[in-house]
Amino acid sequence: MKGVVLAGGRGSRLLPLTKITNKHLLPVHDRPMIFFPLETLKRSGIREILIVTEGKYVPAFRKALVKFSGVKISFAVQKKPDGIAGALRLAEKFTAGENLAVILGDNIFEDSFLKEARAFRSGAQVFLKPVHDPERFGVAEVRGSKVVKIAEKPRKPKSNLAVVGLYFFDKNVFDIIRKMNPSKRGELEITDVNNFYIHRKSLNFSKIKGFWSDAGTFESLAAATKLVREKAQK
Ligand code: G1P
Repeated sequence: MKGVVLAGGRGSRLLPLTKITNKHLLPVHDRPMIFFPLETLKRSGIREILIVTEGKYVPAFRKALVKFSGVKISFAVQKKPDGIAGALRLAEKFTAGENLAVILGDNIFEDSFLKEARAFRSGAQVFLKPVHDPERFGVAEVRGSKVVKIAEKPRKPKSNLAVVGLYFFDKNVFDIIRKMNPSKRGELEITDVNNFYIHRKSLNFSKIKGFWSDAGTFESLAAATKLVREKAQK
């Protein structure tokens, strides 16, 4: 399985910091944010990783990652932010027909996903976590052992199960994105990709056990920093 870290976007919820740098270069305790999704993929047995980001920050990422060892890292340049699925399109050549683990660059996980990555064969897999503020996320409606629908940032969430920013896809993901239209906010949404797989009855899910947070707002960045700091002191 290959890995993709999506590290582009506007970072508008972290302005004015993101006026001067890319969100994923900001610190989470003692490391730039980008280290955490890379470490999550590495702990999950993935050894070849593509980082999708803005061209002007590639030299800074390279500098930050000089000593990051054990994985082969390459870059793809996103010209304009057009959503998570929009960024993912740039990974088609890199993927070369293999299965793919996609992680959002601002998602901090305590868990590893080695077992799940080894077991994944085809279709799509999402990971769910109960949260107290589901309206901030993609929210899964689960019936029995199946996700029947995912709603992106719903005003009235049907559950408290957030779809976290780690997804496994087979190579069909690129054909699916080609068929999609931009959402109301003008972006190609990852939630639409996942709903497409649900429609084809080929999306599975598992729940994650450990700490998870995004770090894309001042509140969540502080929560992620606190957790990483506490873990480092244990
Ligand atoms: C994105 C996804 C959302 C997901 C979240 C996880 O939202 O669109 O479905 O739950 O990441 O961090 P964003 O943080 O880009 O608004």
